[in-house]
Amino acid sequence: MAKAKIRTYFLCRNCGSMQPKWMGKCPECGAWDALDEMTKATADPHRPRALGGAAHALHPDHASEVLTLGEIPPLEVPRITTTLDEFDRVLGGGFVPGSAILLGGEPGIGKSTLLLQALAALARQGHEVLYVTSEESAQQTQLRAQRLGAGQSPLKVLAETNLEKISAQIQKLRPVLVVIDSVQMIYQPSNPGAPGSVSQLRDCCTELVYLAKAGGSAVCMVGHVTKEGMLAGPKLIEHIVDTVLYFEGDSHHDHRIVRCAKNRFGTTLELGLFRMTGEGLEGISDSANLLLETHEVAKPAGSVITAALQGSRVLLVEVQALTVEAGLGNAKRKVSGADAARVAMIIAVLEKRGGLRLVDKDVFVNVVGGIRLGDPSADAAIALAIASAHMNRGLASNTIVLGELGLLGEFRAIAQLPQRLTEAQRLGFLTAVVPAHRIKALPKVPGLQIAACKNIDEAIQLLG
Ligand code: TYD
Ligand code: MG
Repeated sequence: MAKAKIRTYFLCRNCGSMQPKWMGKCPECGAWDALDEMTKATADPHRPRALGGAAHALHPDHASEVLTLGEIPPLEVPRITTTLDEFDRVLGGGFVPGSAILLGGEPGIGKSTLLLQALAALARQGHEVLYVTSEESAQQTQLRAQRLGAGQSPLKVLAETNLEKISAQIQKLRPVLVVIDSVQMIYQPSNPGAPGSVSQLRDCCTELVYLAKAGGSAVCMVGHVTKEGMLAGPKLIEHIVDTVLYFEGDSHHDHRIVRCAKNRFGTTLELGLFRMTGEGLEGISDSANLLLETHEVAKPAGSVITAALQGSRVLLVEVQALTVEAGLGNAKRKVSGADAARVAMIIAVLEKRGGLRLVDKDVFVNVVGGIRLGDPSADAAIALAIASAHMNRGLASNTIVLGELGLLGEFRAIAQLPQRLTEAQRLGFLTAVVPAHRIKALPKVPGLQIAACKNIDEAIQLLG
């Protein structure tokens, strides 16, 4: 009988990299004394079959056949909707049975709250669901559920950290969704490593994914990301799961964003927007709510609103800028929520084409609401916010700014302008500053005045 070959290697506790020999310092991440000795069985004929991707999960019989593309039947992905619209949206329409999901985020951001709400909603619809709490006691979970108005919910709770026992319960109950809160606190008894160690995490995650694929239950694992950004957890298992979600937001503000980093069953562009209230998380379907604090008042200098495209929806976001005298010879540029290199380019264009002298100014740019502006359609808004702060002149209130900025200072056309304008009008904006290019082809939006600009100079003239 073929025997497994035992090989020794060293695994970094910090970054998860594999090294052939022991070293005092990990060559990948530079952490000291972080390499643990591991033995790996290779070519073991009894090893469980490798977990195929998503397609294998749904059609295990097809896994070893060679097919031409035309022969492959279209994949029907069934969904289990939680009725929490924002959560379903970021999942791509709900949970896919048999899929593995990772929900990462800083401690205290609201992961347990969101998942408990999702489970309670599924239980209310008559689905069998299981919440495995490895961090808190069953009583603590009950207390939280009461706060969420789900104290009497039929959802099943298991306070356990031993994966063998968890696995036995999953096989017995066959729930549509299991939540493991958190994957860093459970352990596989056959593995000598401590819970949360790299090898435990990999073993537990692989076993849970196997359970999901074999039993058809969707498995959602919670993984903590620490404040320092040391991803001793979620990053290590991202490649094993089907969907990776990150819970973001800052715990000083009440809004939260669930972002999708990977999705084998849908787009990664969608966002889920929530607000943390005294009774749990509340979905924000109207993006204007993100701006609520400042939306009503007249815009002071240095604040410009733009419409960003995130997945299928238009989000209105406020860009704020501030310019102040810099210390001799070291002007600072600090950016949050936008690409710093892009902002540096915009500042250069403002200097050269807009005639603004910013070389001796510290420039700060902030996108309010925790949104990250990824596409260049926010260029014009960032440029005008900086110009407005610098000149201490504001735009008329209820004005929205859209457009990409070229190196020549020209305003360039952007994608899906009509959708953005319609959304702005719906939310009460009266004027839109847009690129003049192909403006004739733009459908009229009743009630919204269009201020077409060819370049940054013309836009700066609009500052009153
Ligand atoms: P929690 O879900 O425990 O975070 P995580 O699982 O990501 O560590 O959320 C913790 C915070 O949320 C805590 O500071 C209390 C707050 N919270 C509310 O504001 N409202 C609520 O209804 C609940 C349940 C929690
Ligand atoms: Mg928690």
